[in-house]
Amino acid sequence: MKKLLIIAIGLLLPSIGWSAGGGPTYPNDKIEIDWNDKAAMQRGARTFVNYCMSCHSAAYSRFNRVGADLGIPDELVRENLIFTTDVNGEKTKVGELMKTTMTPEYAEQAFGIVPPDLSLIARSRGVNWLYNYLRGFYVDDSREGIGVNNGVFANVGMPHVMADLQGLQVPKYKTLTDSHGDEQEVIVGFEVLKPGSMTISEYDKTVYELVAFLDYLAEPYKQTRKNVGTGVLIFLFAFLILAYVLKREYWKDVH
Ligand code: HEC
Repeated sequence: MKKLLIIAIGLLLPSIGWSAGGGPTYPNDKIEIDWNDKAAMQRGARTFVNYCMSCHSAAYSRFNRVGADLGIPDELVRENLIFTTDVNGEKTKVGELMKTTMTPEYAEQAFGIVPPDLSLIARSRGVNWLYNYLRGFYVDDSREGIGVNNGVFANVGMPHVMADLQGLQVPKYKTLTDSHGDEQEVIVGFEVLKPGSMTISEYDKTVYELVAFLDYLAEPYKQTRKNVGTGVLIFLFAFLILAYVLKREYWKDVH
């Protein structure tokens, strides 16, 4: 009986977690990151330094490490990925950590919250969440100062920093009634209010590439880990055959 209870609780917990998370969110798309597509990650890195690093750091990474992993020579890293300066006003060196120049005090004043470091965000939030979050900003005049809200992160303190690319959108709502009879308005789609410089599919691709870069950033060794894992499995399989053949050889005279 006790066991049954524990199993029941174990099965129920995930659904409780889901409802505590605020129910359905929009958009809700899934992506698969192609780790062999280094060119996409390079473009994601460019978007990251241009659109995110003014507020966020990725302070567990160095510029030249990213360059080495993604196949960008130091010279091009210096030209295309580094836009910050150090305390002496000199251009940040390629060996430096990827830190934003915005001070926490300024951020606190401007946004009421310090933008978190994004080095590990792909692990804590997952790539699907990021893909939806960065496509989920919509116009909400009730949000003082930033004028936007987000379909997957309600009342977020971040402005829509890629509005020039995506344009502005407004949500389409639907009313859902839950099992208690309570009504809840949920977003089921977006309508373009003002187009940006990109089409919807171009923007989706840009966000995908940015998320691919963030995924790399969160675990630079992922590809190596997978390759080593496959190698180990192949070795174990070959060894199994060898061990079996040996066993037959040793026991041949006993049976
Ligand atoms: C103008 C400053 C600014 C810029 C530029 C900016 N952000 Fe943010 N971002 C913020 C602030 C402030 C928050 C904290 C929001 C909150 O918790 O309410 C935030 C939060 C986030 C979060 C949620 C973190 C979490 O899990 O709580 C993610 C993910 C994120 N930003 C990604 C990005 C990406 C990717 C870019 C570049 C496209 C970017 N941000 C550009 C200010 C900025």
